[in-house]
Amino acid sequence: SDSMLIDPFGRNIDYLRISVTDRCDFRCTYCMDENATFLPRKDILSLEEIVQVAKAFVALGTRKIRITGGEPLVRKDILWALEQIAVLPGLEELTITTNGSQLEKMGQQLFDLGVSRINISLDTLKRDRFEKLTRRDKLEQVLRGIDTVTALPFKQLKLNAVILGGHNDDEVETLVDYALQRNMDISFIEEMPLGAISDHDRAEVYVSSDTIFKRLQTRWQLTPSQHQTGGPSRYFQIAGERSKIGFISPHSHNFCSTCNRVRMTVEGRLLLCLGNEHSKDLKSVLRAHPNDLKPLQDQIVKALALKPEKHHFNLDEEPQILRFMSATGG
Ligand code: GTP
Ligand code: 5AD
Ligand code: SF4
Repeated sequence: SDSMLIDPFGRNIDYLRISVTDRCDFRCTYCMDENATFLPRKDILSLEEIVQVAKAFVALGTRKIRITGGEPLVRKDILWALEQIAVLPGLEELTITTNGSQLEKMGQQLFDLGVSRINISLDTLKRDRFEKLTRRDKLEQVLRGIDTVTALPFKQLKLNAVILGGHNDDEVETLVDYALQRNMDISFIEEMPLGAISDHDRAEVYVSSDTIFKRLQTRWQLTPSQHQTGGPSRYFQIAGERSKIGFISPHSHNFCSTCNRVRMTVEGRLLLCLGNEHSKDLKSVLRAHPNDLKPLQDQIVKALALKPEKHHFNLDEEPQILRFMSATGG
């Protein structure tokens, strides 16, 4: 390959995740405090700077970009930035991960500008639970957003559900049914120990992917899918359906050996792995050389040398990672 983005373990890092804001209109208990404080404007990258980073990565060989947050669609003028990124020569896929709250309003524009796939977080279909989990009474708004995008010919739409024992583990089948009815894929995610959130005891609510898999197998025939994104999800095809079920299992199945991704925080820190603090500052380079891609690209290539072989999430230890998911970009 002609990519400049091979890391010390031989992995081709052709996938960049960009967090465009740490703000969100929800307050999910596993992600943020109710009275979360947000970064001051001067510390976060401007949309022009974010586009410049995307340009530098794509010129180096990045093929996929996923836009995350916080909630990416609450950032002012985000559609402008997405339009700039979508047309970068060499980029094969522009995708977003969203909580769904703005999809009713923006779904059509996202499709028109070239977003090909959308991942939507949905942990429950019960209104009271949704309100407890997200601390916002917006389930109906999210479901209307999902109706909006499922009516459009996106290449793929996927639900993400974080399953917590005693909270929503009784809904796994209902969520699969909901996805199947709409030809959507669905991924089940083990909670990750990010940030300092103490709403529940993490070991107590832990449900392994294998537990969910075994339950689903009693109702559906699941066979390992050819479609693997090089990401953390292990996908299974549901017999007789178009949908796939994915499992993201940072605790029970280490997926680091095929990792193809790095992420940039809204402060312009390039994180080499979700599971530790290795990072390289891109913001200072951007601000020292605003019109020059070369220094930025040099910094990116140097950063890849810091990519660790694997993460070390451990349920028995206090979380050592003090970034919240909202500032990290999922
Ligand atoms: P694609 O691979 O692009 O299809 O999407 P994805 O499933 O990786 O992306 P999405 O944004 O929907 O993320 C789903 C979950 O996977 C989130 O909880 C992420 O935090 C988690 N995740 C994504 N990448 C990584 C990673 O590199 N390491 C770990 N531990 N978790 C990840
Ligand atoms: N552990 C696992 N997943 C999380 N998400 C947010 N915080 C956590 C966490 N601590 C999920 C959201 C969304 C995705 C981007 O990340 O539910 O689906
Ligand atoms: Fe917002 Fe997503 Fe965090 Fe929930 S998990 S508070 S929707 S960023």
